Amino acid sequence: MADERDFLSEQRERFETFKGQALGGDTQSTGESDEKADEQIEKAKEASEKPVMAEEKEIGEGAESPKGPVGLDIGTSHIVAAQEKGTHIHAVKQLNAFFTVPKSKFSRSILNKNQVMYYERENSFYVIGYSAESFANMFNMNNRKPIKGGLLSSDEEEGLSVIQAIVNTLIGKPRNFGEPLCFVIPGEPFDGRDSVVYHESVINRFVGGMGYSPISINEGMAVVMSELSADDYTGIGISMGGGMCNVCLSYLSFPVITYSIQTAGDYVDSMTGRAVGEPATKIKGIKEQELDLTKEPKDRIMTALHIFYEELIFRLLQSLQRVLTSTDKIPKISNPIPIILSGGTATPNGCKESFEKVLRSIKLPVEISGVRLAGDPLNAPAKGALIMAMTEAG
Ligand SMILES: Nc1ncnc2c1ncn2[C@@H]1O[C@H](COP(=O)(O)OP(=O)(O)O)[C@@H](O)[C@H]1O
Ligand SMILES: [Mg+2]
Repeated sequence: MADERDFLSEQRERFETFKGQALGGDTQSTGESDEKADEQIEKAKEASEKPVMAEEKEIGEGAESPKGPVGLDIGTSHIVAAQEKGTHIHAVKQLNAFFTVPKSKFSRSILNKNQVMYYERENSFYVIGYSAESFANMFNMNNRKPIKGGLLSSDEEEGLSVIQAIVNTLIGKPRNFGEPLCFVIPGEPFDGRDSVVYHESVINRFVGGMGYSPISINEGMAVVMSELSADDYTGIGISMGGGMCNVCLSYLSFPVITYSIQTAGDYVDSMTGRAVGEPATKIKGIKEQELDLTKEPKDRIMTALHIFYEELIFRLLQSLQRVLTSTDKIPKISNPIPIILSGGTATPNGCKESFEKVLRSIKLPVEISGVRLAGDPLNAPAKGALIMAMTEAG
């Protein structure tokens, strides 16, 4: 009991300091900084209540120069940039993919005429974003991805140039130099050997080079920022994407525990594909169009999709159990805390229910009040990053 009180008062103190720091300096609890801190918290809360209006970047449409803070989510599947626009959050997205074709004068004219997004590098044209998907389909090949398993690989030199080019289709240089930009980073993989250090520092340098003041936020934490303002930013944020699932246990806006597993939507596609002898891209299309986890599967593909979805959810919750039971960092939280699910892989009908079912079968050292799906699962991390950037802007 004494422990708990100590912990809580210590946390409260750290929270006050944090609020002070978010204001850029004065960490003492003077009346004035308290007022400003309240303002910041209010601003974050207001932003999190705003609905997201999402748009896929049209081919040929130029990128705008942002005025005000920016949230940026560079995921395995998509890159999403979010800005606050009056009564809503505006999110623009682009497919995080590329396709290379040999360089020639003639193909350059054709690409330009058709407003295909591309850039030149060595002897190739790099077709990027949604354009890459159309090209890959036309050649009946797979498009390529600069990010695999959630992380930029240090041995693929072209990855960064592709990401830079795609980000440049979404946002230009800031109108005011030094505008805060918060980008999403994954947690350290629980079951892999990859590290996020390289990924984070490369993006940090690139965004800084564009003229922003970069800060980073863990992906699960961004989900908490976006969805848990009414719960004092206390709960577990989960983003189930293509290459990774990211998890963060946040206590009063502190990311106490963060990690990732490199098992997510792409895993479901490839395992199902292997089981039924179909290409993963075809399975992905079927999954996104037809999968409903509340319905009895009617054929082999659906049966396999159900099996691997359940396995994914099981692996995710098993990892959560292992991480939470093997740490001494868990705050003794008196009330049960919510779990928020987000990301494209959390969107099929019945995902939340399957998650709840597996959750009932395992024992966690924290009590869970309920499982919720984020308001806009695909854009929650970018929205959370934007909110973080806004609190930096002061
Ligand atoms: N309607 C859907 N049903 C099932 N899976 C979906 C759906 N829409 C997207 N996905 C899956 O979500 C993943 C991409 O999610 P996203 O959050 O954009 O990922 P990332 O963070 O990796 O960019 C992919 O595996 C994709 O197949
Ligand atoms: Mg993501």
